[in-house]
This record gives sequence, structure tokens and C-alpha cells, in this order.
Amino acid sequence: MILRSLRFLALISAKAIARQAVAFPLVACLILSACGGGSGSTTATNATPATSAQPSAPLDAVAIGKLIFRDTSLSASGRLSCASCHNPDNAHAPSNDLAAQSGGPDLTIQGGRAAPSLRYLNLTPRFAIAADGTPSGGFNRDGRAQMLAEQAQRPLLAPHEMANASPAAVVARLQAAPYAEQFRALYGAAIFDDPAAAFERVLLALQQYQKNDSAFFPFDSKYDRFIAGQATLSDAELRGLALFNNSTKGNCAACHPSAKAADGSRPLFTDFSFDNLGVPRNPLLLANRDPAYYDLGLCGPDRSDLAQRTDLCGAFKVPTLRNVATRKVFFHNGRFTSLRDAVSFYVRRDTNPEEWYPVAADGTVLKFDDLPAQFRRNVNVAEVPYNRSPGQAPALSNAEIDDVVQFLGTLTDGYRAP
Ligand code: HEC
Ligand code: HEC
Repeated sequence: MILRSLRFLALISAKAIARQAVAFPLVACLILSACGGGSGSTTATNATPATSAQPSAPLDAVAIGKLIFRDTSLSASGRLSCASCHNPDNAHAPSNDLAAQSGGPDLTIQGGRAAPSLRYLNLTPRFAIAADGTPSGGFNRDGRAQMLAEQAQRPLLAPHEMANASPAAVVARLQAAPYAEQFRALYGAAIFDDPAAAFERVLLALQQYQKNDSAFFPFDSKYDRFIAGQATLSDAELRGLALFNNSTKGNCAACHPSAKAADGSRPLFTDFSFDNLGVPRNPLLLANRDPAYYDLGLCGPDRSDLAQRTDLCGAFKVPTLRNVATRKVFFHNGRFTSLRDAVSFYVRRDTNPEEWYPVAADGTVLKFDDLPAQFRRNVNVAEVPYNRSPGQAPALSNAEIDDVVQFLGTLTDGYRAP
């Protein structure tokens, strides 16, 4: 039921829904044809501190979504909310340096991937495969969720995250939350009588919040000021920007575009494509203790529809580089804990593979060790900066790597002129 209506929902353009922030309950009713009538009564006593000075004012979906996002009582542990792994004070990414976050009833079950930042996702296109077979878009590192509402189901229910036994369990917890009355006021007095419908409102409120609250896309980094002509970059930052863009040096902008689009929209530092970088295996992920386990991104294990496209095994979504300097771990498996190492890996992966991969007793470097042998040929070895071999000079010198890292620091939101 939930999946079916979500698939139906997905037919409506995400943009159209975003524009309906105010008329949202109506849209939801039309789509889901399951709204209890009436507006219900709003009681001031149920106001929470997060809901502004006017506690009795009816909340819209964005405001309800914001409360849900921070509500640890919606988890089996009572200690985990969306904000625990996507900290609003750290660019909606974890503030710790764990390769993967843990959840479950006792917070002891480790997830399989590094938790990403949720900034600048509002313009993510739907997952699609072009006529030439190239995939792009979608949510999660493997693009498997089409809409934010669909995505939000998993953390609420996954045993390694908020670990609710069912949608009804989430709704039962929400019914006991301080903002339950506001939820009823927005979605109808009888909304809790239909747990499936109530759960869909939870997912849609989370989507509305992430798509419409500008805290997720402030566009106020130093680089934004710079391209608006309101700030200057240091010499090192300018050199880093030039290397980032230069197709024979960093070539980073080929996948992480840095320039305004033709329509004037600001750069997101992702082209929403997927690529296979051959990131080394991370022994800190417990799943990797099983030598037969591989996270192959687009071709599984978290999605199964592309398992036949073996050429895509090992490809992950290009993430935005906005706020990358605030990240504590990098890449889908959290293998690197410093931004400098992450950038260094790009340019020294092929010239100095022994710096990144295990070396066998006979001196052989076990390159691309996080992929089964038959998929190692999928790794991108054609494009700058990964088109080198041992003995050649890396595409960037150590000083140039430093400059690129300096430049990446200008992509952090919340810049204040010194
Ligand atoms: C225990 C940590 C944890 C919790 C709690 C959690 N997430 Fe996540 N989130 C992750 C991880 C890990 C991923 C990456 C999953 C993947 O790629 O398969 C992710 C991915 C996402 C994405 C996709 C991002 C992208 O780049 O496409 C969104 C959106 C998201 N989470 C929203 C939420 C919401 C909303 C909640 C609360 C209902 C939530 N998360 C709770 C860890 C968490
Ligand atoms: C051919 C496409 C491509 C090019 C060129 C490219 N990247 Fe990436 N980048 C990716 C993909 C794909 C990922 C995610 C890989 C993963 O998670 O396994 C990524 C991830 C990253 C990350 C980790 C971000 C995070 O939040 O974990 C950093 C940092 C990064 N890229 C910087 C750069 C820099 C600097 C350059 C230029 C030297 C560059 N990239 C060039 C495709 C590319």
C-alpha cells in the first residue's frame, strides 16, 4: 500500500509538489484520497520549544517535518533521529569520524555506508538511465530512491537505523509526541485511525521540510560570495580553483561542476552522474569482515534492479562537494578521514598505488581491493586525473593538492567576511 501510493506519487513532478508547500495537505488528500475531513483542533499545550513564539498557530508540513526530523522518540532506541546522523549544525552530516553510524534498539548495529550530507539535494533529478545506458540522479549513494519521501521510509524502519518494526509502530510513537495534535490539525482529526495514511504524511512532511527549508540550501559559502562578486579568494584558493577546473590537471569540474549553469543557477558541484573510483576497502566496516561481501553500489546489494548491468558494479553517485571540508569521513565507505588524503588518492592512485592498497608478501599491490576481480575493469582509468601509471608524475604536485584543498574550503556554508 505504501509503496504503491508512493509509486503513484512519483508520477507527480517533484517540483510541482515543492511549489505546493502551502496547499500541501490538499495535494496530499487528492493524491492519497485518504484524508480524514475537518481541520481538527489545535491545542496550545502541545507546543514544543522548536515551534516559535506562537504555539497555537497551525503548523504546515515543513514545520511538522522539522519536528519529525529531530524527534528521537520515533526510534526504537529512543535516542536516534534523522538529525543524529544528519546533524543540522554540521552541514546535515555526522559530526563524528565513524566510517558508518550505528543504530538499532541499542545503537549497536553498524550501517554499511558513510552517512552523507543532506545539503543541496533539493535539485536532485529522478534516477534515470539515458538512451546510451548512462545512469544519473536519484537519492542514496546508489540512486535507488526516486523521491525524498520514498527515501525516508528506510531510516525509520531499517534495523540498523531507527529500527521501527512497522509503519504502524512509527505512527504509534508519533501519536505520543508533543506535536501529535498539530499533526492532526494539519492532516485531519482522524488521521491516526489510518496508520498507513499517517505514515505517508510523515514521509511527505520530511520531504517538504528537506525540499523547502533553506537551511538545506543556503548558498552562502565564500565561493558563492566570490561568484556573486562580493568576496575575493586568496591566491592559494584561486590556484586551487584553476587546478580544479583545468581538464589536464585536477579535472574535478568534469564531475563536480563549479560554474553557474546556462540558466544562471548556482553550481552544485555534482553532475548527478555515477562513477567507479576504485576506493580501497575499509576494514572498519563490519560487513567487510566477510571477504565475500562487496558493496557494489548501483548493482547491489541495496538495489537489485541493475544486477545484470555488471558494467555498473562498483559505481556510486557523485556527491556534492559543497561543505566537503566539514566532512570527517570521505567516499561511500568512509575509507578516508582527511580531505587531503581524499584528494591525494585521486591523483596518486595510479602513480603510487602502494600508498592506498594492501601490498602482498611478494610486493604485488592489491589494487582496487574493494571489488571482486571480475569488476576491477569497471574502475575509471581513462579520465584525468586517473589516467596514469607507476613511474609517471601525478596529475597534481603536493603543493597543488594543498591548493585544491584550500579551494574546497571555500565551499563551506555560512561564510562571514573577516
Ligand atoms: C543511523 C544513521 C542514519 C539515520 C538515523 C538517518 N540516516 Fe539518512 N542516511 C544514512 C546513510 C548511511 C545514508 C546513505 C545510504 C545509502 O547510500 O545507501 C543516508 C542517506 C540519506 C539520504 C539520501 C542522501 C543522498 O545523497 O541521496 C537522505 C535524503 C536521508 N538519508 C534522509 C534521512 C531522514 C529523513 C532520516 C530520518 C527519518 C534519516 N536520513 C535518518 C544514515 C542515517
Ligand atoms: C569522473 C568523475 C569524477 C571526477 C573527475 C572527480 N570526482 Fe570526486 N567523486 C566522484 C564520485 C563518483 C565520488 C563518490 C565515490 C564514492 O563514494 O565511492 C566522488 C567523491 C569525491 C569526494 C568525497 C566526498 C564525500 O563527501 O565523501 C571528494 C573530496 C572528491 N570527490 C573530490 C574530487 C576532486 C578534488 C577531484 C579532482 C581532483 C574530483 N573529485 C574528480 C566522481 C569524480
